[in-house]
Amino acid sequence: MKVLIVYDSAFGNTEMIALAMRDAITANNEVSAVRTGDFNPEMLKGLDLLVAGSPTQKFRPLKNISDLLNSLPRKSLAGVRVAAFDTRIDIKKVNNKALNFMVFIFGYAAKPIHRLLLAKGGTAVADPEGFFVEGTNGPITMGESERAKAWVAKLAGIH
Ligand SMILES: Cc1cc2nc3c(=O)[nH]c(=O)nc-3n(C[C@H](O)[C@H](O)[C@H](O)COP(=O)(O)O)c2cc1C
Repeated sequence: MKVLIVYDSAFGNTEMIALAMRDAITANNEVSAVRTGDFNPEMLKGLDLLVAGSPTQKFRPLKNISDLLNSLPRKSLAGVRVAAFDTRIDIKKVNNKALNFMVFIFGYAAKPIHRLLLAKGGTAVADPEGFFVEGTNGPITMGESERAKAWVAKLAGIH
């Protein structure tokens, strides 16, 4: 399976998740992980699975990843399986009612990424997924890299 993981990252945690995902499936797949700035549309040729990820900032993906996906021509992901992920802070650990309400209304980055992937013709193979970090700068919460690896391995195993 040809797999592309495209991501952005402000503090490196989403990048670490993306690279862990790549390494988890590299033995059985032709897989690359690229930051938004290194993406070019040629990478979509013959692609089986596109995984896109971003940190959640202000309940949204980073502009780079939204811009990249928005810039793709219509139907350019037709025939491509797609999945979206984000990194986020565990709301249960923050314990702030106003923030709980905001998250309830506005959510996290993975869902808008998921919608963009579908808008470009992609076929969803997973619900939008989030992986926890301990704070703005990280680190990645214990066990989350392993969960991310298992998540992508399952997607890459769908033939
Ligand atoms: C300006 C800013 C806004 C943020 N807003 C949110 C948010 O709305 N929800 C959330 O769960 N985390 C939020 N965070 C925490 C980020 O999700 C966290 O920094 C990110 O997952 C770390 O990934 P990165 O190292 O790849 O940037 C915010 C962080 C920053 C700097």
